[in-house]
Amino acid sequence: MASLQSSFTVLSSAPKLRSSRLPGRSHRSQISCSDGGIDRRNMLLGLGGMYGVGSSLGRRAEALPILPPDLSTCDPAGATTTRRVNGVEEVVKLDVNCCPPFTDKQGDYKLPAFTKLRRRQSAHRLSPANLAKYKQAMAKMRELDKTDPADPRGFTQQANIHCAYCNGPYDQVGYPGVDLQVHNSWIFFPFHRWYLYFYERILGELIGDPTFALPYWNWDNPRGMTMPPAFDDSSSPLYDEDRNQDHRPPAVVDLALNSGITDPVQLISNNLALMYKEMVSDVETAIDFMGTEYRAGDDPHAFASGGTSERGSHTGIHAWVGDPRNDLNEDMGNFYSAGRDPIFYCHHSNVDRMWTLWDKIPASYPKKIDDNDYKNSSFMFYDEKKNLVRVKVADCFDTKKMGYEYEYSDTPWINSRPTQKAVPVNLKELSKGLPTADKVFPLKPAKTVKFLVPKPAKGKADEALVLLNIVTDNTKLIKFDVFINDEDDKPGELDRAEYVGAFTQLPHRVKSKESVNNLRLNLREVYENINIADDDAVVITIVPRVNGDAVTIGGIKIIPRRSGK
Ligand code: C2O
Repeated sequence: MASLQSSFTVLSSAPKLRSSRLPGRSHRSQISCSDGGIDRRNMLLGLGGMYGVGSSLGRRAEALPILPPDLSTCDPAGATTTRRVNGVEEVVKLDVNCCPPFTDKQGDYKLPAFTKLRRRQSAHRLSPANLAKYKQAMAKMRELDKTDPADPRGFTQQANIHCAYCNGPYDQVGYPGVDLQVHNSWIFFPFHRWYLYFYERILGELIGDPTFALPYWNWDNPRGMTMPPAFDDSSSPLYDEDRNQDHRPPAVVDLALNSGITDPVQLISNNLALMYKEMVSDVETAIDFMGTEYRAGDDPHAFASGGTSERGSHTGIHAWVGDPRNDLNEDMGNFYSAGRDPIFYCHHSNVDRMWTLWDKIPASYPKKIDDNDYKNSSFMFYDEKKNLVRVKVADCFDTKKMGYEYEYSDTPWINSRPTQKAVPVNLKELSKGLPTADKVFPLKPAKTVKFLVPKPAKGKADEALVLLNIVTDNTKLIKFDVFINDEDDKPGELDRAEYVGAFTQLPHRVKSKESVNNLRLNLREVYENINIADDDAVVITIVPRVNGDAVTIGGIKIIPRRSGK
């Protein structure tokens, strides 16, 4: 333990090196500013954050990784936030203490040796023997809540980990007042991989089975596009009452979140098209898939954005399972309560599987993020023996080294690119009477709007659509879709060439009431899909799905993707 002690000492003194920086300030913008010579006004408009994406990787020698939280400073009274109830603002406090038990005995985690890989199976195809084990382990975990509520391996303690890392009881070490947040950035996949890793080992430990493996909810395959029936048995420890009752089996998953579609065939087609986009065509850099960079001192509510998978299928399932009977969409529909639904871990098992699958898709860009701040970011967990351990992002890149793998399941989405349009749209006709973007923004999309946006180059080009300064109410579930040159107006059909992408937000209670964000959607393949003519503008349609009135979009722009201008 001696060497551990010294590494912790170094960590706790390191932030002082940056004491001149204002806590809470997003230095994504600051850095981009000095890197790219962007003027202050653009930075304020939010361009700074956008330029930061993918352009400053590896350039910030002085930056620091996200440090593990100091458990002794966890605020048991939880986070506060203001929210609007019937138009009146009020302060809301978390009604749970999601702080873990404290001990000062803590050390760096070393991946242990093992003899057999744990094999994660599809929940829809789980063998009866494995289902029995899973239920037995979950029952034991729930039992700990009663017999020893302070046992960090208990059901509620495990659920609270998610709350503690998402809802503000921790400040970042060295940055008082700056939330520690594991969503909306490149630490999303690594954090959740480690979280499930320990959860799985704890379950195995509780039933004395070192090969126990969590199942995955195979929602990316038509065979898995219902809630796994094992979780819908009210006598099972896998059951949770707080779910959308309309979405119990055999309802087909709507990854698009409130597409308005009920036809199962269209839903499945939508889902596959969305999977193709978020795994393949929307991803042109590792950051696109993993999420924006997030370093010590960064404000997680300013220009932080999850990757395509986090924003897409991941958020879609959370919101689809969450219970609309309560205004916070508990359990799955809200970060602070999501871990209370056993299906969370089965969902995240598939989210983690998506990371392993994306890693293997051949691509023209590097998949590895070679950045020490990323690799050295770290978290604290209790292991299956109740030891408090510190884990590093760099140690979770290979699931086989971590002792588990995924059973194969078909990925039909890999071929689900939308059918190309034979005839380009007639822009002149389509845009008749439509306003230009500058007349429409700032925009509160309470209803569908259509407008014209100029293009920097004519026709097919490697460009991206950027929505700037999207300000959201953190307490609301929010979703809107974006279409391009759409003459059909079938907004529920997302498997069409004209669908560009979406903005989504899960409600979460945090210290600040609002978040601000940019959304960048790659257009290169979309232009090919719509077979764009040699036009110097496009018609964009924004379709609100959920709470369009809880978001304000500052501006819109089409930029050449590579130059970032
Ligand atoms: Cu930590 Cu699915 O969220």
